[in-house]
Amino acid sequence: MTALFTPFVLKSVTLRNRIAVPPMCQYSALEGFATEWHLPHYTSLAKGGAGLVIVEATAVAPEGRITPGCLGLWQDAHTEGLRVIASAIKATGAVAGIQLAHAGRKASANEPWNGDDHIDQTDSRGWQTIGPSALPYGAHLPKIPAEMTLQDIERVQQNFVDAAIRAAEAGFQWLELHFAHGYLAQSFLSLHSNKRTDHYGGSLENRARFMLDTIDAVKAVWPTKLPLTVRLGVIEFDDNDEQTLSEAIKVVDIMKSKGVDLVSVSMNFVIPETNIPWNKPGFMAPIAARVRQECQLPVASSWSLDDAITADEVVAKEQMDLVTIGRAHLANPCYSYELACQLGVINASSVLPTQYAHWLARYRRPAALTRAE
Ligand code: NDP
Ligand code: FNR
Repeated sequence: MTALFTPFVLKSVTLRNRIAVPPMCQYSALEGFATEWHLPHYTSLAKGGAGLVIVEATAVAPEGRITPGCLGLWQDAHTEGLRVIASAIKATGAVAGIQLAHAGRKASANEPWNGDDHIDQTDSRGWQTIGPSALPYGAHLPKIPAEMTLQDIERVQQNFVDAAIRAAEAGFQWLELHFAHGYLAQSFLSLHSNKRTDHYGGSLENRARFMLDTIDAVKAVWPTKLPLTVRLGVIEFDDNDEQTLSEAIKVVDIMKSKGVDLVSVSMNFVIPETNIPWNKPGFMAPIAARVRQECQLPVASSWSLDDAITADEVVAKEQMDLVTIGRAHLANPCYSYELACQLGVINASSVLPTQYAHWLARYRRPAALTRAE
């Protein structure tokens, strides 16, 4: 038995193994609605054996989309398309998750393959962005956001609540609030982007208020038996890392006391100039382990953890409870099964749906699997 292919129980939900497909924007929605791209995309990821599949960053308000192609849940009419996706994920034996998001000052951008930059002021596809302060991200995202009023803050928190209600109605079993990657909530927490002088700026308590109040509000409507989780950037890699990380750990402690069930430990991406050690395999694992250890809360993490030995090891060493593997699943939606083969998991039905597992457990091993082993 490998550590990676043991079940994971959180609240009433059981994952068949410790692999999660993390949210990955597809930029293929129309006015927030899922299109013909999404259902086969998520179905194939779920059929491939991961325990949890989290639907991409889904905007709680139209101005919270990263690009015009981002999914949304800001109106009831969006629910149906997502209900079909959640149902298809569950039919494969995976748990269906969704990430709710507001992109803040990084919103109103062109799709990555169309420049990844802010939509030009003169282009009617773009919109006014918002943030804690009127400070731009810079680099390819130079738009100056409007500083949010207290009414704006209340409105966006209500947007999160309404979207969480719709996510539950759509049948999602796992909710992730996107508080990472330089988007709205993360930009409230960071001193780089938050220069407010009211009770949403200054002290850590004030900068964390947007996140923590949003959690309280969402918690009140999300089914108590289902996991409520947060993706949080805990490090910027800007040479101020110990302070950022220790502050984040304090915030996670409070999140835990408010009933957050797991934190997906990620990076801040609040500023463009950073020294992220991209070439160091598994560089987020010790950071995730520290959050897990100090907060005594289950954690997931990401970023180049996708080879079999590393993925199994980080769970075996109790550095994290779940390993999120993104791009490898884009290359091969059955990547989780491939990892199982590499780690010698012989019971295919513990990884794949019966419709596939039955045949793969019988007869000669297909050449593709023998190669993977
Ligand atoms: P960018 O995608 O612009 O990346 C910032 C810098 O990090 C760039 O120099 C880039 O290198 C480098 N980089 C990013 N990812 C990797 C990687 N996996 N391996 C090596 N180098 C990398 O920044 P964003 O702020 O737009 O996105 C931050 C991260 O979040 C990215 O990894 C991106 O894939 C991911 N992402 C998150 C989304 C979300 O949370 N909704 C949506 C889409 C992506 P280079 O200049 O060589 O590209
Ligand atoms: C991402 N990522 C991401 N993260 C997130 O929190 N919400 C999102 O919607 C997205 N969207 C997204 C789109 C695409 C195309 C990529 C490649 C990435 C980041 C992703 O969840 C993951 O953390 C990274 O891809 C790192 O993991 P891997 O790919 O190294 O396993």
